[in-house]
Amino acid sequence: MSAWKVVLLLVGVQCLHVVALKSQLFTRGDALDYSSRKAVDYKTFYLNQKIDHFGFFENGTFKQRYLVADQHWHQAGGPILFYTGNEGDITWFCNNTGFMWQVAEELGAMLVFAEHRYYGDSMPFGPDSYSDSKHLNYLSSEQALADFAVLIRELKGSWPGARSSAVIAVGGSYGGMLAAWLRMKYPSAVVGALAASAPIWQFPGMVPCGDFHRIVSQDFASSGPNCDVNIRRSWGAIDKIASTGLAWLSGTFSLCAPLKSRPDSVAFKEWLQETWVNLAMVDYPYEASFLQPLPAWPVQAVCRHLGFDSSVSDYQLLQGVSEAARVYYNHTGATACLNTSSTATGSLGFLGWYYQACTEMVMPLCTDGVQDMFEPQAWDFQAFSDECQALFGVRPRASWAETLYGGKDLSAHSNIIFSNGGLDPWSGGGVTRNISDSVVAIVIPQGAHHLDLRYDNERDPPAVRGALVSFGIGGIFSFLSFFNALET
Ligand SMILES: *[C@@H]1O[C@H](CO)[C@@H](O)[C@H](O)[C@H]1NC(C)=O
Ligand SMILES: *[C@@H]1O[C@H](CO)[C@@H](O)[C@H](O)[C@H]1NC(C)=O
Ligand SMILES: *[C@@H]1O[C@H](CO)[C@@H](O)[C@H](O)[C@H]1NC(C)=O
Ligand SMILES: *[C@@H]1O[C@H](CO)[C@@H](O)[C@H](O)[C@H]1NC(C)=O
Ligand SMILES: *[C@@H]1O[C@H](CO)[C@@H](O)[C@H](O)[C@H]1NC(C)=O
Repeated sequence: MSAWKVVLLLVGVQCLHVVALKSQLFTRGDALDYSSRKAVDYKTFYLNQKIDHFGFFENGTFKQRYLVADQHWHQAGGPILFYTGNEGDITWFCNNTGFMWQVAEELGAMLVFAEHRYYGDSMPFGPDSYSDSKHLNYLSSEQALADFAVLIRELKGSWPGARSSAVIAVGGSYGGMLAAWLRMKYPSAVVGALAASAPIWQFPGMVPCGDFHRIVSQDFASSGPNCDVNIRRSWGAIDKIASTGLAWLSGTFSLCAPLKSRPDSVAFKEWLQETWVNLAMVDYPYEASFLQPLPAWPVQAVCRHLGFDSSVSDYQLLQGVSEAARVYYNHTGATACLNTSSTATGSLGFLGWYYQACTEMVMPLCTDGVQDMFEPQAWDFQAFSDECQALFGVRPRASWAETLYGGKDLSAHSNIIFSNGGLDPWSGGGVTRNISDSVVAIVIPQGAHHLDLRYDNERDPPAVRGALVSFGIGGIFSFLSFFNALET
């Protein structure tokens, strides 16, 4: 697997939901998706933001999009929940962050969803924003955080009744990282942060690069007998069969484009690996369409095809793997063939995150085939850097994120709740232990990526409901009482 592919994997995670969803979730997946069921009602606004908050030469501005829902905000000074937008169209996050919609009523809160620059509608240089690395230069988490802080200041200054409101940052995944960092960097802008599934420690040297894939493998190991063992075995089986039987493989997996050569079979393995990783992230207890329309507990559904003991032949094993892959790609029954290039796309959401990964968001991932079920692949920073140079003409700064955001020492901060699902591979880079009285961690053992920010579901494990109530809402109440104490 090339180093670039490692990035892809990780982005696959964070961006697929943006890009794949737009085409799948809201078209054929609608009937299955709980999260998109409820209509959301908001108004769209734009704020002129400086293209460069940190220098004085580039003096241009652009329009940052943000969405406001104030139907539950009955009283002046009521709280504001502020979603720190991720790498994608903000309306998608708005529609999928059911937690905020559910608590708005209870709290009498205004909801604000702020779009991240260079995504969705918030393009600093319009259609030229992605044209070259000169135009991409202002795509960074620092600039995005400054946009958020400026927007909050503007809202408090101009929205009638908002001046004395407590603002609480909420975000999931990269958005969760931004929520936590907003509280750390701009403590006067937000009184607290709910950072869900936020791998703020997934940077070089901070956590072992193998944790991510180890957690993926644990999900499979605990979802059916021999499931991880058989996936680990499948790579060698593919190699053996590929030497003579590419046609058999292509037919067994109903591939749209038959495998023709050795490199094709390598790409085929990468595609399968990405499939298993994505499944671990969206291992939700109910039918959902986060990345793809999927059954409840999709990893268990996959593992039902992979329970073989060691006497099984390579052919039977791969037959099972092909059925397992169909769980992910053909839950609706509407897929004519499996497309091995369909998880990788060059669309905008991906490109923006690639650029961020190639500059400051360097997140090492690796596999060893022992504590995980994948083929060994070391983290190779140099190869990664070379690919970034070739693609964008920039080189990543491996230690910048740690320097900028203070590494693992969070003890000087306050009022941040980190929630992580135990099934979520990104929990490996998340904060999963309590740091202090007000920087606390909640671990939801049965939770996948983002589960707790989604709409409540009757099939949520009790621990998730508990997390939502005691930590989500409870946490917000504690931020509010902290805020009120400050005021008086
Ligand atoms: C922005 O910079 C340009 C070029 O340096 C200058 O001509 C222009 O007057 C500046 N605009 C503002 C509003 O300062
Ligand atoms: C979010 O929901 C709104 C209104 O229900 C809809 O117009 C919009 O297209 C949705 N956004 C996405 C990305 O699906
Ligand atoms: C998807 O499922 C449908 C219905 O079961 C089936 O007819 C079709 O062959 C499947 N496609 C693939 C690629 O497996
Ligand atoms: C496979 O996916 C790629 C990328 O999304 C797409 O361009 C191509 O048309 C797809 N092929 C088929 C046969 O669906
Ligand atoms: C953190 O502390 C809270 C109590 O304040 C506790 O409920 C929670 O389980 C602790 N989290 C972890 C990961 O130990």
